Amino acid sequence: MTARLYSRLGALSGMAAAALTFTLTAHAAGEVTLYTTREAGLIQPLLTAFTAQSGVKVNTVFVKDGLLERVKAEGARSPADVLMTVDIGNLVDLVEGGVTQPVKSPALDAAVPANLRAADGQWYALSMRARVLYADKKLPLNSFRYEDLADPKYKGKVCIRSGQHPYNTALVAAMIAHDGEAKTEQWLRGVKANLARKATGGDRDVARDILGGICDIGIANSYYVGQMKNAKPGTDARKWGDAIKVIRPTFAGKNGGTHVNISGAAVAKNAPHRAEAVQLMEFLVSDSAQAFYAETNYEYPVRKGVALEPVIGETIGELKADPLPIAEIAKYRKQASTLIDKVGFDQ
Ligand SMILES: [Fe+2]
Repeated sequence: MTARLYSRLGALSGMAAAALTFTLTAHAAGEVTLYTTREAGLIQPLLTAFTAQSGVKVNTVFVKDGLLERVKAEGARSPADVLMTVDIGNLVDLVEGGVTQPVKSPALDAAVPANLRAADGQWYALSMRARVLYADKKLPLNSFRYEDLADPKYKGKVCIRSGQHPYNTALVAAMIAHDGEAKTEQWLRGVKANLARKATGGDRDVARDILGGICDIGIANSYYVGQMKNAKPGTDARKWGDAIKVIRPTFAGKNGGTHVNISGAAVAKNAPHRAEAVQLMEFLVSDSAQAFYAETNYEYPVRKGVALEPVIGETIGELKADPLPIAEIAKYRKQASTLIDKVGFDQ
């Protein structure tokens, strides 16, 4: 994390100190309980800044797996106020599992674009990650469409992780939403035929295998580019990062943008501190919190006008995100997963 960001959050805390004293004496400060699947290192500084600014204490529960099952099991006695996770699929599962409630907040609606939140306020995106093309630096390539991954000219040149990983099922779901199921099946068969190796490993392995000469191109998430290109010189991660250039692919149609997934949050159905829950979510889409998401985790802010982390800005740049509502894309997840199995993508 940069010193600049720490000082920014620090200044925020300082400014809030006087107000905080007043709040504490005026009435008992509130509290809010956050259940999150996101890493402590990313989230904790944001929560500390929120408490300094608002006087609201945050109880944080880091839940690695089974967030929905846990909140369901706790039922009406659940202390959870805010549920935070990554991937649109996980957010939709929380809503369909009946553990969220709708929120009406002009501040949230103004900060989060309509295609990145539930129409009824059941969840809001807090940050974005783009599914981008990593390419060998030496390739004469400046633009790319997701459909091109199936072009026979890339036979034996494509690397990608498992088709069943949520990052890829969401991409395939988006392809179904744009091009229909039949075309998507054909496309998946084409991509499968182009694979340089089994669809396995992680996103960073795409850069590793481009450096190793195994493949020329591959699809992976944008924030790993920030991690790798900012890594210490001489480390493996830095070598992988230095071997690639990055292109923002789009879908072929005239409304096609770059596929994004999100991190997001929802207010829990049985939230004991509903007002504070909304207050925390509003803080997380504020300018300072959004800048923190960008600088610390190399994510794309959902709020307009927030600067990108410099390496992300230079190597990937501003997003023209797919304008389809991400909730609409999520409807095709099961269909996507079935197709991926049908073509034997991971075999
Ligand atoms: Fe990831």
